Amino acid sequence: MQGKHSDRIIVAIDGHSSSGKSTLAKQLAKHLGYIFVDTGAMYRAVTLYFIENRVDLTDQEDIQNALDKIKIDFKNENGRNLCYLNGQLVEDRIRSIEVSSLVSEVSAISAVRKFLVAQQRLMGKNKGLVMDGRDIGTVVFPDAEVKFFVTADRNIRAQRRYLEFKNKLRNVSYEEIFKNIIERDLTDTQRSDSPLKKAEDAILIDNSQLNQDEQFDLALSYVKKALEQSSK
Ligand code: DC
Repeated sequence: MQGKHSDRIIVAIDGHSSSGKSTLAKQLAKHLGYIFVDTGAMYRAVTLYFIENRVDLTDQEDIQNALDKIKIDFKNENGRNLCYLNGQLVEDRIRSIEVSSLVSEVSAISAVRKFLVAQQRLMGKNKGLVMDGRDIGTVVFPDAEVKFFVTADRNIRAQRRYLEFKNKLRNVSYEEIFKNIIERDLTDTQRSDSPLKKAEDAILIDNSQLNQDEQFDLALSYVKKALEQSSK
């Protein structure tokens, strides 16, 4: 499917925490031969840096000085897209409950968003990209050819995330995960800068009753339509 830049499109995927956005984004990117970018990982990497370097979240100067020292990269290894912070592999550490508990607060800071959105736009300059996050269809790429808004019942999201943690032998309770999901939904949708919301032209996918393959087939049918449109 890979073609000239003009044949390639941008697929923007937004949605609630633990709704399976990244899984869908990865599947689509693999199928299309596109780049996949998990922007949540970028906000998580900044949060990890802020925690480790005790950045004062109420001090704009402290925040800006810290951002000036942060470099985030993704490297594809054995089919996995791994996040590096200043040259160090942080893929596992950015998924910890400590980072999950602070990331919504950090991602509400405008200086942080400005810093990451600029990098995300650069990643899409040649198109051929599937990007997932909270503001991709509304702010980062408002002209994306396809936009999805992914959600599921909050109990189902918490249950799926709990099983994921359990499989990785992480000691976190279901209640802790459920509470984190509720809190993040609230902070993400209520912040003043780029709140999580469905873009008017986004396709809503509620996957509460769908498995991963069913979700993928549904999304792919829309992507195929958009590819036909853009090649006309
Ligand atoms: O997708 P995720 O759960 O890993 O994202 C972690 C947090 O980062 C999420 O609670 C809100 C924030 N985020 C954001 O504000 N904007 C994005 N484009 C991606 C994530």
